[in-house]
Amino acid sequence: MPEISIGVAGATGYAGQELIRLAARHPAATVTCAMASASTDGNRRLPALTRIWNGEVEPLSVDRLAAECQAVFMTLPDAVAAEVGPALTERGVRVFDLAGTFRLRDRSLRLRWYPATPDLDEPAVYGLTEYYRDELQTARLVACPGCYPTGALLALRPLTDAGLLEGDIIIDAKSGISGAGKKPSERTHFSENHGSVAAYSVLGHRHGAEIEQELDRPVTFTPHLVPLDRGILETIYVRTRPGLSAAAIAEAFDAAYRDAPFVRVDGDVLPEIKHVVHTNFCDIGWRWDQASRRLVLVACLDNLVKGAAGQALQNLNVAFGLDETTGLS
Ligand SMILES: NC(=O)c1ccc[n+]([C@@H]2O[C@H](COP(=O)([O-])OP(=O)(O)OC[C@H]3O[C@@H](n4cnc5c(N)ncnc54)[C@H](OP(=O)(O)O)[C@@H]3O)[C@@H](O)[C@H]2O)c1
Repeated sequence: MPEISIGVAGATGYAGQELIRLAARHPAATVTCAMASASTDGNRRLPALTRIWNGEVEPLSVDRLAAECQAVFMTLPDAVAAEVGPALTERGVRVFDLAGTFRLRDRSLRLRWYPATPDLDEPAVYGLTEYYRDELQTARLVACPGCYPTGALLALRPLTDAGLLEGDIIIDAKSGISGAGKKPSERTHFSENHGSVAAYSVLGHRHGAEIEQELDRPVTFTPHLVPLDRGILETIYVRTRPGLSAAAIAEAFDAAYRDAPFVRVDGDVLPEIKHVVHTNFCDIGWRWDQASRRLVLVACLDNLVKGAAGQALQNLNVAFGLDETTGLS
């Protein structure tokens, strides 16, 4: 297998550390640069990764990333990724952005949700691996999906693509606190969350725009924070069009994911966060009431793996012509 030199920009964060943990075991990738902000004097070690990856995290240098890496994962705040991404692609580096920066194709939506993002000559490829494998092969800039959109889209796309739904789509989503990054805020710190559950950004979360872009229809998306460190569970309420059978729903999922190693669909067992944490799986289950045509979908994933680092590495595998599961199974 070819050796791919990779960089992680944002290496001290939750997603960045998860990436290094996975990449350190990847048989065809070597982490040659790990970088974060210059907020501390000198280099930093990552104690959680001792004996997994023994390198040091240096202050961000675009020049060094460009000189030493074939591929860079950006696990950075949106505004920083907006600057670093184009500076790297211009110099021939293939970039996998985990921030939201380049996900929205519509300029006015991008200005609303990600105002620091510059216009690009060549739009980024949206990195929902299961749906963009062809585009990923030649992509220079991959906008990896958000954690919530990954679960919602994997559950809904087979049904919308097959034209099986009508009416409203309601996505009731719950996430562990690591989804908000390592820096605590009033909403995310322990004493606010422990023993509580709260809805937030109701009718105003940027992941709603991302889901709508990929489904090409409106959705009602309501996220909640739950007192877990990691994991996402989304319960999705839709109505099927008249005249369907349960077999047609099962067939839509089978056709979409028969050859998708990381999507597990089970019409009998509803997924749980416990089944997917620390894995790159997205599990999907469903229940359908034929009389009322109500269909309830449940999707689960680990926000830091399939919702972030794992999916990004899956995209690197496809982009570099490797088996999609390399380093992930
Ligand atoms: N957490 C998730 O579940 C998840 C899932 C999907 C996508 N994402 C996206 O991935 C990105 C990273 O998320 P995260 O949760 O890992 O965030 P995080 O834990 O807050 O980590 C942010 C990283 O960016 C670095 N950084 C901050 N400002 C910087 C600057 N000016 N220059 C260089 N490095 C800088 C931080 O370094 P310091 O240690 O030096 O501050 C840290 O390494 C975000 O855009 C997020 O939206 C996160």
